Amino acid sequence: MSANKDKLYIFDTTLRDGEQSPGASMTKDEKMRIGKALERMRVDVIEAGFPAASPGDAESVQAVAEIVRDSTICGLARALDKDIDIAAEALKPAASKRIHTFIATSPIHMQTKLRMEPDQVVEQAVRAVKRARGHTDDVEFSAEDAGRSEFDFLCRIVEAAIDAGANTINIPDTVGYNLPSQFGDLIRRLRENIPNSDKAVFSVHCHNDLGLAVANSLAAVLNGARQVECTINGLGERAGNAALEEIAMSVRTRQDVFPCNVDLETTEIINCSRLVSTITGFVVQPNKAVVGANAFAHESGIHQDGVLKNRETYEIMKAEDVGWNTNRMVLGKHSGRNAFKARLKEIGIDFAREEELNSAFSRFKDLADKKHEIYDEDLQALVSEVIHDS
Ligand code: KIV
Ligand code: ZN
Repeated sequence: MSANKDKLYIFDTTLRDGEQSPGASMTKDEKMRIGKALERMRVDVIEAGFPAASPGDAESVQAVAEIVRDSTICGLARALDKDIDIAAEALKPAASKRIHTFIATSPIHMQTKLRMEPDQVVEQAVRAVKRARGHTDDVEFSAEDAGRSEFDFLCRIVEAAIDAGANTINIPDTVGYNLPSQFGDLIRRLRENIPNSDKAVFSVHCHNDLGLAVANSLAAVLNGARQVECTINGLGERAGNAALEEIAMSVRTRQDVFPCNVDLETTEIINCSRLVSTITGFVVQPNKAVVGANAFAHESGIHQDGVLKNRETYEIMKAEDVGWNTNRMVLGKHSGRNAFKARLKEIGIDFAREEELNSAFSRFKDLADKKHEIYDEDLQALVSEVIHDS
């Protein structure tokens, strides 16, 4: 990471919010495997679970805390003494631990879910942060549904949480309601208006209900957030959370724009993505940014020709930087002669006569009209026919 840039902390919540995806429950052993993969990727904080949610969750958090040494392990807790104490117990074996406590701050959540007055909510938040500080000096406070909370109240509760000892303040867009410019402004205004804001790292946690989780997180980073909460493959409650791989590669790729950088081993991204997909059974869509099978695949002749001459014509990042072996030329009906010839060469076929190549290329185009993708075996068969006929 460049010396004059801030660090952007990556807080992975695949094992907690990711597991809240309907159908994505994980066993203790699976969580341990994902925890180790995240550690290899050098994720700063791993939210391993919500220990008070169930004895099994507490056991999983404890198991991850035992085997992961290089990332901070975090446990989620409602702003309740009981939850905080259970989280602290589960986190005991961690080399570095964080308690993440939260309470809702939007009018709808306070009135209809918590049935509490704003003053009571502030009081409970302060008590929770203090209790958590009794267990560890690394405490994060989240104002749940901050994205729909009243600005003045949000300022008040965040200021009180920092005074009580929270060193990370998380601003969740719990229901994915915000737009990027609005969410970026919210982070900037909070930092400008809260007198003790420089005593805490501002974090964001964006959900993807409108498909804006990554855009909102990045807008927040451009406005001073220095921790992003995210998940592998964008797994998470409902439409999911911001995808770690998209956040990391946006920041890495656009260093001309971002005043900070991530400290990740990005070549581990594909491993993590495949592991999470295999364990949860959630298939990654082929056109998913960074980790989808087509993310570095080129099919059209014009693109293939450009990439063969200079990869940067159509690639803004290197496939190898996120853990793919290389980019991929897909031979299909849009492919051109250059890509066809290059692929033949790669599999050891180099026609001596131009007419043979022309004949093979025209047979390839006929076949490509009938088949989505032409594989090496198809090419071998097609070449045999050309040799046989000539
Ligand atoms: O979405 C949310 O608000 C959360 C909090 C618990 C951080 O997951
Ligand atoms: Zn969430």
